[in-house]
Amino acid sequence: MTDGKTKTYGLLGNPVEHTLSPAIHNTLAEMLGINMTYLPFLVDRGSVGEAVRGAYALHMPGLNVTVPYKSEVIPYLVETDPVAQRIGAVNTLVRTDGGYKGYNTDMPGLYRAMRSDGVRIEGESVIVLGAGGAARAVAALLEEKGAEEILILNRTPERAEGIAEDINSRAEKKLAKALPLDAAGCLPERKYLAIQTTNVGLHPRDEDVLISDKAFYRCVHTGYDLIFNPAKTGFMRLVEEHGGKAYNGLKMLLYQGIIAFELWNELQIPEKTADRVYEMLLALSGGTEEARECRMSY
Ligand code: ATR
Repeated sequence: MTDGKTKTYGLLGNPVEHTLSPAIHNTLAEMLGINMTYLPFLVDRGSVGEAVRGAYALHMPGLNVTVPYKSEVIPYLVETDPVAQRIGAVNTLVRTDGGYKGYNTDMPGLYRAMRSDGVRIEGESVIVLGAGGAARAVAALLEEKGAEEILILNRTPERAEGIAEDINSRAEKKLAKALPLDAAGCLPERKYLAIQTTNVGLHPRDEDVLISDKAFYRCVHTGYDLIFNPAKTGFMRLVEEHGGKAYNGLKMLLYQGIIAFELWNELQIPEKTADRVYEMLLALSGGTEEARECRMSY
């Protein structure tokens, strides 16, 4: 029950009505007996600075930020952690003296999801499908965690080149390479981890795939799709049909929330608790025609 001591957290975005974040945070608060509530806040275009200042004035201890404000919010923060600075996007605010500090928990969230699924990055040849904000965050994670090589495939090659250049200048070697989508059918003979970061295949266009060439899927030992609605995308189905393992983005959503909750409350969420929240998310995200959040958005 809310009372005079209840702390209010929330999500700033536009739109916000399909978000699963209140379910994650309110469930965690209840399980851990923390007196807090988490609400969605619709923020008009051009008003994110006012929203941040207002939240600070209201003594809100923390916020999440989603589309279209993950980059736009940065000038209104007193500090940004190095991971968020690097990918130029903030999804979590933590109250400090004088203002909020910005973090990005999507990237460590994806890493924790992959670890929980037994998917390795270190030493792997990795294909990134897409070159938007999500792909930029994924590529930064791959570089940081020691991928052997990173191939970025995108419809618009210049965007893939932009990400590859940034990765290579940071790594001080030619780690990442940009390729057009039609290179997917003639990749060097190798088995790849492939991470699907585009919007292609989002509900209701469940069967759409960015790449349909079967030769591509024969090269993929593991496919990770950032989409979680539908639970099994066309990309995942094709990976599995060619003998690979496939995972969706629901665990990434779970762990970005868990890491934000840990930052706000200065605690570690036990894996058993994370598993129970995941079960709840699975139940919520499946079996309904109601519009739901579909993918970690940038
Ligand atoms: P986000 O920042 O959330 O990752 P984005 O910047 O809109 O989203 O990027 C979406 C990605 O999906 C891009 O890689 C985009 O390709 P382009 O850079 O060529 O636009 C890709 N994408 C979206 N719809 C697509 C489609 N129908 N066919 C091919 N690629 C598509």
